[in-house]
Amino acid sequence: MRLLVKSGVATVLALGLSACGGSGSAPSGGASASATPAAAASALPSATASVAAADAAPADFAQCKACHAVEAGKNGIGPSLAGVFGRKSASVEGFAYSDAAKKLGVTWNEGNLDKWLENPMKMAPGTKMTFAGIADKARRDAVIDYLKTLK
Ligand code: HEC
Repeated sequence: MRLLVKSGVATVLALGLSACGGSGSAPSGGASASATPAAAASALPSATASVAAADAAPADFAQCKACHAVEAGKNGIGPSLAGVFGRKSASVEGFAYSDAAKKLGVTWNEGNLDKWLENPMKMAPGTKMTFAGIADKARRDAVIDYLKTLK
């Protein structure tokens, strides 16, 4: 969440430092600067990935991670989002969906994910996803683009 975003920024800064250190001006400074991104990379692979590809894990996804895992088979307060794009709604095994979610009967695509993320409680009154929604269309699009990458 916040930690993830901060670490992503720290990684960028550290990579920047390491690039400067790489010019060879200060051997000791260069060594400590290059140790930092390595540590960050092993602790937070997804933060590193989001640095590599700017459109992965948009900032708004930090909110989703409070309730959703992206690993298959891992349910939290919400169901795993692995493979959610193109999947039938309310179909994650072992997750106790609300009746509202079960009644949706959609296959998640750009159109209905956009509606869901704008206001899940309006699309499915009674849903357990107590999330106010993302008002900005471009920000919803960024999250949906990221959901497509989750396998
Ligand atoms: C407060 C916790 C919470 C937050 C925050 C949250 N969700 Fe959810 N989400 C849930 C729950 C719980 C469900 C199951 C809904 C139900 O059963 O009514 C769900 C369901 C979903 C579904 C439908 C999954 C399926 O299998 O049909 C999608 C897609 C989804 N969430 C995406 C997101 C995204 C993207 C975000 C961030 C923008 C987000 N959620 C934020 C709790 C949350």
